[in-house]
Amino acid sequence: MTETAKQDRVLIFDTTLRDGEQSPGATMTHEEKLEIAAMLDEMGVDVIEAGFPIASEGDFDAVSAIARQAETATICGLARANFKDIDRCWEAVRHARSPRIHTFIGTSPLHRAIPNLDQDEMAQRIHDTVTHARNLCDNVQWSPMDATRTEHDYLCRVVEIAIRAGATTINIPDTVGYTAPRESADLIRMLRERVPGADAITFATHCHNDLGMATANALAAVEAGARQIECTINGLGERAGNTALEEVVMALKVRNDIMPYRTCIDTTKIMNISRRVATVSGFPVQYNKAIVGKNAFAHESGIHQDGMLKNAETFEIMRPSDIGLKETNLVMGKHSGRAALRAKMKDLGYDLADNQLNDVFVRFKALADRKKEVYDDDLLALMRDSVSNE
Ligand code: KIV
Ligand code: ZN
Repeated sequence: MTETAKQDRVLIFDTTLRDGEQSPGATMTHEEKLEIAAMLDEMGVDVIEAGFPIASEGDFDAVSAIARQAETATICGLARANFKDIDRCWEAVRHARSPRIHTFIGTSPLHRAIPNLDQDEMAQRIHDTVTHARNLCDNVQWSPMDATRTEHDYLCRVVEIAIRAGATTINIPDTVGYTAPRESADLIRMLRERVPGADAITFATHCHNDLGMATANALAAVEAGARQIECTINGLGERAGNTALEEVVMALKVRNDIMPYRTCIDTTKIMNISRRVATVSGFPVQYNKAIVGKNAFAHESGIHQDGMLKNAETFEIMRPSDIGLKETNLVMGKHSGRAALRAKMKDLGYDLADNQLNDVFVRFKALADRKKEVYDDDLLALMRDSVSNE
């Protein structure tokens, strides 16, 4: 057995089509959802949360269609803690080769106040709804929403109830992006130590990015024993978004030396799906976004470009091809040096002698001072001027 095969497997649960689509303005059409689900399935996502079937006829239809089309991924639908939601969810996912019902209720004091349930009444509701879901489906995920702001004793109590009622995955949501890495790890560790039956189920981590810590919190939870990460493409999601799939997957790949866990994601498909989700959701990816931002594999400064031309590892910890990009982008601008200009001109078909390079370089710098980025066409124009001045 290879070293990688021996490593603990971490399941990737993608919720782009559910939590991601809940971002105001990110609504996708039926066809777009099917297309994204097919891409997720093909890239090796373990569980696709396809939607919230009770929310609308459209959501129900999309979840049912995705359930029928999925080839390998488990298809999951979301349901609140009531029989009507759960039945509707089951109706939608039951066509999948591997269906899952995900039911949840807010367990923190603030969330308990909304349905006006006391601790015992809520515990009973959890028992009844998880039992109901489990009678319909063998694969049931339960989430105590706002888990990171729920009293520890109560959290242990309700997690135990959900496990006894048949939940196979317990998801621990940081619903408002409030936790920090050490606390995220401690919470999973505490539940694994204190809750009877915890070793028979999978713990999941579901983080939001309100304080910019969603990826760090998810990875910390994995180190403490969570074995499912809930995430979205491009980190799409409510408010500041969810843990970004591309970030956790690439972190586990690149830093496998210190985080020896494996996923089944074909990382070469990341760039393509990132672009497609940006287009269909209407949420562009910020230029400096980790992994998939336009500048994530771009270099402009002379020192960096020179280093990159000599050995890409000088300034890159991943290869562009790892995420399906053809090559690093050496952006030509005022910080670029001679080495990059020579390489760029060579790509464009000009093998310049030193005196020619000097001439073009002076004019390139003058142009770069006036323009943010110097494109290939600009360089070709400089080259044409240089030839006609000779
Ligand atoms: O953030 C959250 O708590 C959720 C739950 C529905 C799992 O998305
Ligand atoms: Zn969420």
